[in-house]
Amino acid sequence: MTGLRANPAAGKPLPQALGALARAFTSETGIRVRVHAFGGSELSSAAESEVYRIAGEALANVRKHAKATKVQIALRRRGARLVLEVRDNGIGFDPGAAAEVGHGITGMKERARLLAGRLGVTSRRGFGTAVMLAVPLSQAPP
Ligand SMILES: Nc1ncnc2c1ncn2[C@@H]1O[C@H](COP(=O)(O)OP(=O)(O)OP(=O)(O)O)[C@@H](O)[C@H]1O
Ligand SMILES: [Mg+2]
Repeated sequence: MTGLRANPAAGKPLPQALGALARAFTSETGIRVRVHAFGGSELSSAAESEVYRIAGEALANVRKHAKATKVQIALRRRGARLVLEVRDNGIGFDPGAAAEVGHGITGMKERARLLAGRLGVTSRRGFGTAVMLAVPLSQAPP
């Protein structure tokens, strides 16, 4: 699991860092991950690290809970935001009922808030889980 906790390799752009994270995850779990990652260069390296850690926490949940066979990671620019999605095809859960169970989702939301962004988890039993993060690319005050 240590690979999922590490910082992105020094100077590695976020898309490449996510690719490496996905490969480490697959080799540790056997779960296939498809990565479509572009952008992120507008973020500070501190902000990139937060996004990377959110992806790592989402993958930790896939590994621990999902019983998934496939994961998709997408990073793309959408208007003035950078959007990260981590989607699995696992067993899903009821997000309302699980709200207070652990620290992972709460921590991801706190990291999103530090970036002035938003994080949502959508899931339904039997239909997998999606974590979506949207971060504004311009964090300067208006
Ligand atoms: N990808 C997922 N697939 C299925 N269930 C999930 C998934 N992600 C989260 N869950 C459910 O949501 C709960 C809360 O997740 P959260 O990450 O906050 O806590 P945790 O993983 O149980 O504990 P921690 O992250 O503190 O080790 C989990 O216990 C699990 O029931
Ligand atoms: Mg967790």
